[in-house]
Amino acid sequence: MDQYAVVGNPISHSKSPLIHTLFAKQCSQELEYSKLESPLNGFSDFVNDFFYGNGNYFAESHQGLGKGLNVTVPFKEQAWSLCSQLSDGAKLAGAVNTLYLNDQNKICGENTDGIGLVRDIKNQGISFEGKKILIIGAGGAVRGVLQPILNEMPEKVVVANRTLSKADALVAIFSELGDVSSSGFDQLNEPFDIVINGTSASLGGQLPDISSAIFSSSTIVYDMMYAKALTVFNAWAKEQGVRAVYDGLGMLVEQAAEAFFIWRGIRPKTEEVIQLLREA
Ligand code: ATR
Repeated sequence: MDQYAVVGNPISHSKSPLIHTLFAKQCSQELEYSKLESPLNGFSDFVNDFFYGNGNYFAESHQGLGKGLNVTVPFKEQAWSLCSQLSDGAKLAGAVNTLYLNDQNKICGENTDGIGLVRDIKNQGISFEGKKILIIGAGGAVRGVLQPILNEMPEKVVVANRTLSKADALVAIFSELGDVSSSGFDQLNEPFDIVINGTSASLGGQLPDISSAIFSSSTIVYDMMYAKALTVFNAWAKEQGVRAVYDGLGMLVEQAAEAFFIWRGIRPKTEEVIQLLREA
């Protein structure tokens, strides 16, 4: 049976096997999807063994069956480096979360995170076109979503980061794709239509030190993190009376659906899977 997996370190927390198993069932696809922990210092070798079989990590019975990998922390940049072929989006993202083999059996990379984010927001009936968008953070997570957001023709995108130089560097990469500028936190003093939190602050229960002037009663707020309870960022935004808050669970399922489409040529329905995870 065709083998797929998510590879990371650590990996025990991953919901990807559940999501892809539900997709496979829904789309009547015969495949196995597991989670794999690669050694921190042997990622490239690990991936090559998964696809081509060199006997270092996988049994002989696995040979020829490895068809696709999702890649998560901390390997997305290393995965980008080892690809023989990258999509235009993946080139700009500087990281990939999906690996597959092309017709010549070469490893190809795509980044479906931004596609997942955009699709999840559009699923809520919200358009980016003509909107003023604030993205907070300038790490790998934000770099991975900028191109798909700019493709949606917003009026402007402001990338604000605690460390301004990192926002400057990011904006330089994407400046040809639209009206995208950088900002420090201090300069943020006007409301945006859509505010996306792409910092890792929520993970530690922290709030970025930003004025609530970024919110109005019509602002849509999206935290790329997700948690059982409201994230601290979304709780804060809600207190300020914004129109709606969303967390990144939908993005997680939508990025998986795009990976599934790359591998199997079928686009699974996501709504019921998102609901199932929400209730789990
Ligand atoms: P990731 O791959 O999740 O993007 P990263 O590349 O380490 O991780 O980036 C983390 C992002 O969260 C950065 O933009 C970081 O800001 P700095 O560049 O100033 O470090 C941001 N971040 C983390 N904790 C934060 C906090 N408490 N307040 C504001 N920003 C924070």
